[in-house]
Amino acid sequence: MENNIAQHRPQWKSHLGFVLAAVGSAIGLGNIWRFSYLAYKNGGGAFLVPYLIALFVVGIPLMILEIGLGHKMRGSAPASFASISKKWEWLGWWQIIFVMFGIVLYYSVIISWCLNFFFFSFNLSWGSDPNTFFFQKFLMLSDNPFKAGDIRLPIVLSLVVVWFLNWFIVFKGIRRGLEQANKIFMPLLFILTATIVFWGLRLPGAMSGIRVYLTPDFSRLSDVRVWMDAFSQIFFTLSLGFGIMIAYASYLPKKTAIVRDSLVISGVNCLFSIFAGFGVFAILGYMAKTTNQPINEVVKESIGLAFVAFPKAISLLPHFSKLFGVLFFGSLVIAGLSSSISIIEAFTSGVVDKFHYKRRTVVSVLSVLGFLGGLIFATRAGLLWLDIVDHFLTQYGLVIAAIFECILIGWIYKTGVLRSHINNYSSWKVGSWWSFCIRATVPLVLIGLLLSSLQQEFTDPYGGYSRLSLIIIGRDWLLITLFMAVIVASHPWKAEPSQGMIK
Ligand code: ALA
Repeated sequence: MENNIAQHRPQWKSHLGFVLAAVGSAIGLGNIWRFSYLAYKNGGGAFLVPYLIALFVVGIPLMILEIGLGHKMRGSAPASFASISKKWEWLGWWQIIFVMFGIVLYYSVIISWCLNFFFFSFNLSWGSDPNTFFFQKFLMLSDNPFKAGDIRLPIVLSLVVVWFLNWFIVFKGIRRGLEQANKIFMPLLFILTATIVFWGLRLPGAMSGIRVYLTPDFSRLSDVRVWMDAFSQIFFTLSLGFGIMIAYASYLPKKTAIVRDSLVISGVNCLFSIFAGFGVFAILGYMAKTTNQPINEVVKESIGLAFVAFPKAISLLPHFSKLFGVLFFGSLVIAGLSSSISIIEAFTSGVVDKFHYKRRTVVSVLSVLGFLGGLIFATRAGLLWLDIVDHFLTQYGLVIAAIFECILIGWIYKTGVLRSHINNYSSWKVGSWWSFCIRATVPLVLIGLLLSSLQQEFTDPYGGYSRLSLIIIGRDWLLITLFMAVIVASHPWKAEPSQGMIK
């Protein structure tokens, strides 16, 4: 007999609805904005090698773990970890707190930049110098993270719109909100992206860009930062370590093909990135040809690739340039929203599970807090803060959380229990290789990368920022969220977290 909690837990209306929502969470700004600037920065094709290795070594095993765990425990990340051991509840809270009060704050600001650029596309407002336009006119970027200056009004106004949409969709619930939105967002995003890619590939010079994209420069692979970028990108892009997949899987019915779904979600997401990469590099090739520059010199600031290189390329297009801009920035807004709503849902489900507050109240309060918290990234130092916070939260937060996840499931809970649950409900079974990955390969690879990345942090501080700014903005952000997680975890539960579990 299923108990009360399991019966009252919301469920996806259809299996396709779940897959689309999970793919929607995975496919986001990370696939277009982040993937392309990382590939560009890390030697084009060379980046695909560690990226694909990271997908198979870490991404897929962890995706199976998170979906399997959420499905078995029928709970959010904190509830799922607490069902295994109350001593580990903090880990679930830490994930959803640093993602909700970290990643989604700057993520929504980037969506709001995209929204601005969507409107700028109608009259190509960036003019002939998109670099000066983006950094000096639009962001009015200061030269120091501690010189925040005033808040940029155009960013705040669109941030209001972004948080309204976030709120509206999550407020409506699993079926009528998240599932419905992704049923519209995902097909639309695929059509828009395919249009952009095929359009890009037909431009003169596109093939020279594609050659750079597909020719690995193996010398880059000796740089540990390239590997760290690839591994943390896999976490970011698959929404792993965010607590999202655990929460989404908790709304699944008992009979679910866990392994097949995990492979489909990971596969579609990474194919999407690689496919979109063709469009980005085709455009870069076109730009290189029209401006007579080598491809590796057409963009100066890799983080500004989407907001500098693309506008420049759009202006250079011989026909329908405005339409291209509208499609490109429109698809970024859609990709971003389908991911930001999943982050808010992951946090909401944690709070509702533990404190039994009304879902709608939680979503409303979170949306206001999210908007207010995002204002720091809408100041003149916003991009600098975003860069530092993104570096620490993804390269350390997500990676450390995943290491602990593996220790908890692999060594305390024992992977065998979860594996037999997963295999019980899947026609595609996972073998003992999966347990080996979770117990040994994944944590060891991640610990190795973490240590070398920490060592680099001391010898060559990230991004050339001062140590003080890295400590206060980056490290302390993580520590404060950890402290908050421990406090929340120490509160008593309204009802036992393991009540809804599938035995
Ligand atoms: N997975 C989301 C992205 O790639 C967060 O943007």
